[in-house]
Amino acid sequence: MNYTLEANMPVAVFDSGLGGLSTLIELRRLMPCEDYIYYGDFANSPYGTKSADRVRELSFDCVGYLLARRVKAIVIACNTATSAAAKQLRECYPFIPIIGAEPAIRPAVLYKAGSNILVMATDMTLKEEKFKALCAELDKMANIIKLPCPDLVEFVERGETESRELYLYLKQHIESNIKVKIDSVVLGCTHYPFVAHAISQTVGKDVPIFDGNKGIAKECRRRLAVLGLERSGGVTGTLEITGSKTDEQKLMTAKKLMENKWQTK
Ligand code: DGL
Repeated sequence: MNYTLEANMPVAVFDSGLGGLSTLIELRRLMPCEDYIYYGDFANSPYGTKSADRVRELSFDCVGYLLARRVKAIVIACNTATSAAAKQLRECYPFIPIIGAEPAIRPAVLYKAGSNILVMATDMTLKEEKFKALCAELDKMANIIKLPCPDLVEFVERGETESRELYLYLKQHIESNIKVKIDSVVLGCTHYPFVAHAISQTVGKDVPIFDGNKGIAKECRRRLAVLGLERSGGVTGTLEITGSKTDEQKLMTAKKLMENKWQTK
């Protein structure tokens, strides 16, 4: 493929839906001068309930679209798609930086060794090899408790970040599955930072909540710097939000989510 990376190209960010906007927020905080294209695969969301093969296929479609838009880096703002496809995407497109997502268990272990760490993510993320390898490395240092959270993605896709139904779901789901005292929570899905406030109210306000977005943003900046592709100049870059099926309602929900002020660690 004839493809030349240039500093004035946009950075691409993709997810199954609106969750990757939580990653985009961190990217724009760290690199405000970059232009961004955000692509949500709204026609096929959610990914977490599909097979790994299907998510890989869909991820290749997303990347195909973004390469056609001539972007200089691709951020997979989705833990599920990273688990299913990051390796294969990097092998297929070695000429462009592809930055993936990973549940932020390391900072949670550093926060308190030997602690009970609750990892909330999609079922697929928790079952895939990538997560197993991470656990094999870290579970000597902490008790890693996995909690798949079906339905949580849909709450965010509907823009429901504080509804009564959301609180009931979290209370019921966490209380019926978790029997130990939790020391910290890791949000292993990019949708979940948007419901971090509700999670905090459910597990206890003193329990720190970690997500991987700051790590992803730093890694993206590092990769761009290595290639001399960072954009500077003090002018705020542009943002385009698009997807495989975009309607007025989705764009309004995206806008609402991007105004979210809740901060995780
Ligand atoms: N935002 C996603 C993740 O980080 C995808 C969730 C889904 O589509 O099921 O895993």
